[in-house]
Amino acid sequence: MIDSLIEINGSTQLYALIGSPIRHSLSPLIHNTSFKSLGINAVFLAFDSLDLKEALSGFKALGVGGFSVTVPHKVAVINYLDEVSFEAKLIGSVNTVVQKRGKWIGYNTDVVGFTKSLEPFRKNIENEKVLVLGAGGSARAVVFALINNYDVGEIFFYNRTQERALQLISDFASIKPDVPLRFVSSDALPNLGAKFIVNTTSVGLASEECLVRPDFFDSKMIVYDLIYDPIKTVFLRYAHATGAVTINGLDMLVEQAAAAFYLWTENIMPIETVKKNLLEKVDNQ
Ligand code: ATR
Repeated sequence: MIDSLIEINGSTQLYALIGSPIRHSLSPLIHNTSFKSLGINAVFLAFDSLDLKEALSGFKALGVGGFSVTVPHKVAVINYLDEVSFEAKLIGSVNTVVQKRGKWIGYNTDVVGFTKSLEPFRKNIENEKVLVLGAGGSARAVVFALINNYDVGEIFFYNRTQERALQLISDFASIKPDVPLRFVSSDALPNLGAKFIVNTTSVGLASEECLVRPDFFDSKMIVYDLIYDPIKTVFLRYAHATGAVTINGLDMLVEQAAAAFYLWTENIMPIETVKKNLLEKVDNQ
C-alpha cells in the first residue's frame, strides 16, 4: 500500500473520476500509487455524480488536469468534449479526458489496455478464430484492438441483443475487410472451433453467473474475461478446469489506466508497483 498520503499543497494538480456508483473503483488506488511512487505533486479523486454537465463545468473552472469516465457517462460525455479521438468516436465511448490548452479531448484507452494485456498471447491467436461475447462499449474496444493490432483470422459475436451485435459488425466491417465478422446464435456456440474467447459482458461481475456451459471450453483455448471482480469468475473457473489458458481483467485495468496516466502526465506508470498494491487490495476484499 501507499506508505503515507501524498503531501498536498497549493500546487497540487487534481485528476478525477466521474461516474456512479464509484465507491468500489480501483482507479484512485492505481493513480495515487503512481503519483506517490513517481513523486508527482498530484492527486486523483473519485466523484460520484449523475450530473455530468455541471460536474464538467466544475472540473473546467477548477483546472482539473484530466479525468476518467465510467458508467453511466462513457457515451454521453462525448457531447461535452471539444475533440474526440478516432477510435473513441468509432467505439462510441470515452473513458479518458485530457485537458489541453483549455480544451477537453476524449480518448478510449481500453483499446491500448486490451492490446497490451494480450501481448504475451500474440502468437497463440494469430490467424485463429475468435469469439467475442457481448456487443457493448467494451466489446467495441476489444474488436477495434483485435482488428487493428492483431492478425486474427475471423471474429464471431454472440450477444443477447442480436441487433446490437449486427450494428457492431456493420460499424467495423470496413476497417479490415479480410477479417470476417459474423454473428452467431447460442446454438452455434459449441461448434465454432474458436481458439480465443473473450467475455466483454457484465455477466459474472460480482456474481456467480456464466454465459456459457462448462462443456463449452476445451484445453486448447485461451479464455479472457474482462471482469476483475471477482478475479476468477465462473467463466474463467470453468475454462481453467479444462486446462485452458485464462486471463482475468486486472492487467487490462492497469494498462488502460497506464495509458490514461501517460496522456495526462507524460509519465510511465510504475506498473509493477501498481499491480502489487492492487493484488493486496483485491486479496483483502
Ligand atoms: P460495457 O461498456 O461494459 O460494454 P454495455 O455497453 O452496457 O457495457 O454492454 C454490456 C454488455 O453485457 C452487452 O453486450 C449486454 O448485452 P445486451 O446488448 O443484450 O444488453 C451484456 N449483458 C449485460 N447483462 C447481460 C445478461 N444478463 N445476459 C446477457 N448479456 C448481458
